[in-house]
Amino acid sequence: MDGTKLLILGGLALVVAVSLRKALHDNKLATAIPVVGSSGFFSSYWDGYKYLAHATELIQAGYDQYPNGIFRVAQLFHWDYIVCGNKLVGELGNAPESVLSFSEGVEELTMGRAIATNAYHIHAIRTSLTRNLHRCFPDVRDEIVCAFDDILQLQGSEWKAVTVLPTSMAIVARVSNRLFLGLPLCRDKAYLQNNIKFTLDVFQSARRINLWPPSMRPFVAPFISSKDRSFDAALKFLGPLLEERLAKENELGPDWPGKPNDLISWLLEIAEGDERTAPALTLRLLSTNMAAIHTSSMAFTNALLDLAAHPEFLLPMREEVERVLREEGWTKAALNSMAKIDSFFRESQRLNGTGPVGMMRRVIAKEGFQFSNGAVVPYGAFVAVASRPAHYDSANYDNPAVFDGFRFSREREAQKMDVDSTKEGDLQPFKRHMISTAVDHLPFGNGKHACPGRFFAATELKAMLAHTVMNYDIKAEVEGVRPPNKVYGSVITPNATGKVLFRKRQ
Ligand code: HEM
Repeated sequence: MDGTKLLILGGLALVVAVSLRKALHDNKLATAIPVVGSSGFFSSYWDGYKYLAHATELIQAGYDQYPNGIFRVAQLFHWDYIVCGNKLVGELGNAPESVLSFSEGVEELTMGRAIATNAYHIHAIRTSLTRNLHRCFPDVRDEIVCAFDDILQLQGSEWKAVTVLPTSMAIVARVSNRLFLGLPLCRDKAYLQNNIKFTLDVFQSARRINLWPPSMRPFVAPFISSKDRSFDAALKFLGPLLEERLAKENELGPDWPGKPNDLISWLLEIAEGDERTAPALTLRLLSTNMAAIHTSSMAFTNALLDLAAHPEFLLPMREEVERVLREEGWTKAALNSMAKIDSFFRESQRLNGTGPVGMMRRVIAKEGFQFSNGAVVPYGAFVAVASRPAHYDSANYDNPAVFDGFRFSREREAQKMDVDSTKEGDLQPFKRHMISTAVDHLPFGNGKHACPGRFFAATELKAMLAHTVMNYDIKAEVEGVRPPNKVYGSVITPNATGKVLFRKRQ
């Protein structure tokens, strides 16, 4: 398409977008829900732009005003409805997909219709992948050791400044792919780089595409995103392996001797019909990589930046890991005994693991969605929860703005002592592990779409942090200073150039 045609199409689409926005602006159901920020037709456009830089403050202001209610904020081309308070957050999380749709809510991040309408890979992650974590742990651990050695490249006893985010990405991509498809591909630099590139591209192009009116997006998306090129590259890496595995299943049946215990096998246990082809399986592997790499590497980056800024937590964690390893060795079960490591991650995720809003959904029920407080969010609207304000609310946490790495391990200990002193032994399970979701703890979402990969993420990340405290000394570039997060709209990411100093443990 040449430039003039694109311009005309852009003009037309803008007219359609403005008319649709006007209709939404005047929608009776919408106007019953209060606006935070400007409510005028044109001034709210301005607010939509301001949101890109000031979402955190705006959402916090809405939360302060309506801590148990719903408010609206202007986006460039629509309203976002923001839900606050534990009760309503629970209602959003538990609403069926046929009413509040997850895949429509994250439209620009999805990988096409096949993935949105048949999300069988999620089932494979939730069941086989999670069940096999115990058995596959030695491989995961082996990859962590090799990846840290290869990627950090530390010599002697010198301190080395490491840029945390890209380093975490490189380690996480490698360790995750050891579980997903094993050696040797999990160490193939070009394959891993393509996965990282694809992941970054999907998130970055989603941002750019969202700056266009919805009606224009299908036309501009191919110019903005290089998703298709990354897919073709992934197919070149994975195609021969996938063809071989499909041929083996066809020839020898689903349980052939020596069948690897990996994500390809777990996918093939469920995949049917058109899904049993190399391109379709490549798309599932890429999607899983995308869901896993970005999130887990940001979580590890945040934890390292927190640890460098709060070095007083390092020695107690090192002592804990040493004790547990003496008693249990490097096993998945041993990670359950590392209460301080677990607590440190949960606290790091509480403070930095989510933007101002999360759990984005789109209302796809024609009658809209009614919350128990009577508020109705109309058909077609985007609705999300005020996640960061919930994490910083003193009604949910004592001293909420303070980084207290062991707040959850202390609670766990206190609960254990309570149980020990109760005659009946009221064994309430501890509900604040890293993997436990809650309406006031939302880094993994909550309810029906809560992250199915969190059990693997926690295993991988806790093993990585335990490895770090056992083998390295780390400190901040500037004592006590955490490089500031990067904010874009409702997305908060750790500083991409933030560094931490590493040296071999002395
Ligand atoms: C620290 C690491 C991770 C974080 C913080 C994280 C966070 C999230 C969040 C917030 C959601 C959306 C929940 C909602 O809207 O209710 C989600 C969904 C998802 N995550 Fe994760 N995730 C992580 C790691 C992983 C890993 C390792 C995998 C794969 C092995 C994975 C696979 C998925 C999938 C497939 C979904 C979509 C679920 C659905 O559609 O129902 N995630 N994750």
